[in-house]
Amino acid sequence: MKIIVQQNEIQKKEDEAIVVNLFKGAKPGGATGAVDKALGGLIGAVIKSGDFSGKLNQTLVLYPNGKISAQRVLVVGLGKEQDFDLEAARQAAGTAARQLQDLGVKQASTILHGSGAGGLDVEQAAQAVAEASLLACYRFNHYKSNANTKKELGRLTIVEFDKSKIAPARRGAQAGQHIATGTVLARDLINHPGNTVTPSYLARTARQLARQNGLMCKVIDEAGMKRLAMGALLGVSQGSRQPARFITLEHNKKAGGKPLVLVGKGVTFDTGGISLKPSGGMGDMKSDMSGAAAVLGAMQAIGALKVPRYVVGLVPAVENMPDGNAIRPGDVLTSMAGKTIEIISTDAEGRLILADALTYAQRYKPSGVIDLATLTGACVVGLGHEVSGMMGNDDDLAAQVRQAGETTRERVWPLPLWEEHRDLIKSDVADMKNSGGRPAGALTAAALLAEFAQDYPWVHLDIAGTAKSTKSAPYIPKGGVGIGVRLLTQLARDWTSK
Ligand code: BES
Ligand code: MN
Ligand code: ZN
Repeated sequence: MKIIVQQNEIQKKEDEAIVVNLFKGAKPGGATGAVDKALGGLIGAVIKSGDFSGKLNQTLVLYPNGKISAQRVLVVGLGKEQDFDLEAARQAAGTAARQLQDLGVKQASTILHGSGAGGLDVEQAAQAVAEASLLACYRFNHYKSNANTKKELGRLTIVEFDKSKIAPARRGAQAGQHIATGTVLARDLINHPGNTVTPSYLARTARQLARQNGLMCKVIDEAGMKRLAMGALLGVSQGSRQPARFITLEHNKKAGGKPLVLVGKGVTFDTGGISLKPSGGMGDMKSDMSGAAAVLGAMQAIGALKVPRYVVGLVPAVENMPDGNAIRPGDVLTSMAGKTIEIISTDAEGRLILADALTYAQRYKPSGVIDLATLTGACVVGLGHEVSGMMGNDDDLAAQVRQAGETTRERVWPLPLWEEHRDLIKSDVADMKNSGGRPAGALTAAALLAEFAQDYPWVHLDIAGTAKSTKSAPYIPKGGVGIGVRLLTQLARDWTSK
């Protein structure tokens, strides 16, 4: 979808459809009022009939029959004016775009939701409309022989009458497109099956996005990992025919200073290893690289947006398979940091690969490290699918992540991480064990990470519940969400630490 910004009056557009909006209980005003007037009061009449109230995400399609040049008018509800925010703007834009695409509309125009009476900043409103329209129309048809690609909303024109708002609207629309592109990359990586997305595939993707967005990419192979003594990461990988990859991406190193480092769990398929998972639903574990997808998508967006800060992305990528060479329960691995880990369950593999990645992160002397991982089923049980679990060692960094989560509506919520949780992973034979059993599963996983996330401010996000969606929402179709891309990009743009 191509998105452009144009100075014009919406009721004069000749498109296949125009989109206007309505607050709940309000009379048509502004651009919607102008369209209503041109239609001889039709929108007002429908409101009076009670069939349309302006409830958030409610839609009304009208056929002007020559009264204006557009073939269709779509009115989308914005909800109550006092409840209106950026998220309502995203949802309304997403709802409208998807409905137009479903109707077979190829070219449409829309007003900016909320930049008038809604009181939103124009640039932010334009970003919201562009971002959500693209994300709402996302489909994953890669493996369908008869995918209907013709039915695609190919062009969306954001129409704004006020000349002084055109420049900020263009900036916002541009940013929204870059951020949506990063999110779409993440969704594709998650939705592709494990026989496509291997550790090497992630590495190729990283190289390609680096080339296209001016980043520096270095991929460490298994020989390199051995030289670095990444024993925990290599241990997880040794049961797979797929070679492990350790991906590093650097954005804007020349900005100098201490970077923000993003780390993503890249288990391209998690069978559980010798501690084999039950077969029912195991296919979902193709999404166990959603943390990696978030980091790659965010690095792409950060590069495209030319964010004026030094940002590093790290992805430890492996496949967790059972095999004659696989690690067994009872084995002891020596991590890159030199600390030893007793394997209780080979299915607690994410924390092992992250342990070495968090140690590797030390070489950048980071001002902050954020890791994202589909780490524990316990987090899904505790928090469900709407919110990611947040743990870490630094309240200031956590507050910034929390704020970025609110702004983008990729919300996170703090969970405790205390000395008592460290005690739960004490081992009889090694420095620690990789599972503390069922109680506090999300916290004991984070407690292991904390042993390696030393000497820098660190936040861990457990995205096991939020990475994949089982129901369609206004701008999030079923499947891979791309969770974290928008949050991390927002965080990098807002980043205040030195
Ligand atoms: N990738 C899983 C966690 C997961 C579960 C993600 C459900 C998404 C949905 C992780 O590697 C895992 O298997 N964790 C185990 C840890 C346990 C063995 C200590 C778990 O949560 O059961
Ligand atoms: Mn596992
Ligand atoms: Zn896993």
